[in-house]
Amino acid sequence: MKARFEVNGREVEVTVEPRLTLADCLRHHLRLTGTHVGCEHGVCGACTVLVDGAAVRSCLMLAVQAQGCDVVTVEGLSSDEALSPLQASFRRNHALQCGFCTPGILTTAHALMRDEPDASEERVREVLSGNICRCTGYVPIVHAVVEALRDARAARGKEAP
Ligand code: FES
Ligand code: FES
Repeated sequence: MKARFEVNGREVEVTVEPRLTLADCLRHHLRLTGTHVGCEHGVCGACTVLVDGAAVRSCLMLAVQAQGCDVVTVEGLSSDEALSPLQASFRRNHALQCGFCTPGILTTAHALMRDEPDASEERVREVLSGNICRCTGYVPIVHAVVEALRDARAARGKEAP
């Protein structure tokens, strides 16, 4: 089957088996290997991407279901020139070790920052509870997201008339 959708602002058309997951389509057909695949059944969160702005487990979605959608992977969160403020905060806070969970956590947290710019630390912990990290113990990850939220709020305050 053919499916046409946008990935990171670029229109793509793929010809795939109807059973192919979006995760495998992104990795193997579109060579966007930043999206990781861990459990393959919706538990670990490593494969999380944004679909029409919502954080979605791409191992639980078929590629053909993305028809007409706007998909953003970890590669699309930053420009070639600079990390996103959230990614920069991850770097400052040493919020990754092996990095396997990081793409899914970044996409999840990007959606949270956009949808809930006033999210509390407790809310950050709640939202990230669906993403498994075997390395960090979560503390630096939560710090990084909380700091990015705080910086974004401060920047908004400066922009306000
Ligand atoms: S690989 Fe999709 S949730 Fe684990
Ligand atoms: S940094 Fe290794 S699994 Fe999270």
